[in-house]
Amino acid sequence: MAEKIRVCLTVNGKDVCTEVEPRMTLVDFLRTELGLTGTHIGCEHGVCGTCTVMMDGEAVRSCLMFAVQAGGRQVTTVEGLALDGELTPLQSSFRRHHALQCGYCTPGMLMSATAFLKRCPHPTADQVRDALSGNICRCTGYIPIIDAVLEVSQCASNPKE
Ligand code: FES
Ligand code: FES
Repeated sequence: MAEKIRVCLTVNGKDVCTEVEPRMTLVDFLRTELGLTGTHIGCEHGVCGTCTVMMDGEAVRSCLMFAVQAGGRQVTTVEGLALDGELTPLQSSFRRHHALQCGYCTPGMLMSATAFLKRCPHPTADQVRDALSGNICRCTGYIPIIDAVLEVSQCASNPKE
């Protein structure tokens, strides 16, 4: 077994310091070490997007990173979006638009869209499609997801994250 490495990072606003095997992926770390199972695992090679989290505000695929690479960074998972049980405007919009069915892709969709709206608060439909083109959904046909993101982007207030 490889020697463990100490890593300290912030996850959903909480500081975490622990020792991990150098080969442990960030998604496995979040799920198995921290119990944050909202981040899903799909393809495990960067294609499906369901493992997307935010790191320092940018969407990243946590199956393609090692946990040790997150040292010193701010990681936000889907569990970190709602504050005190109150859904973000984007989460509420997903619910209103029925933008999920099985929900497997939803955490990744939310994290990709949240990061996207931070840098592009008033996108066109094409820009939303482009931004979410790396997130695969096998259920919805994507239309309600695009509609949910567009509705939030047209509101006066931006999403919290
Ligand atoms: Fe990471 Fe599919 S599980 S991109
Ligand atoms: Fe089932 Fe997207 S809601 S994969």
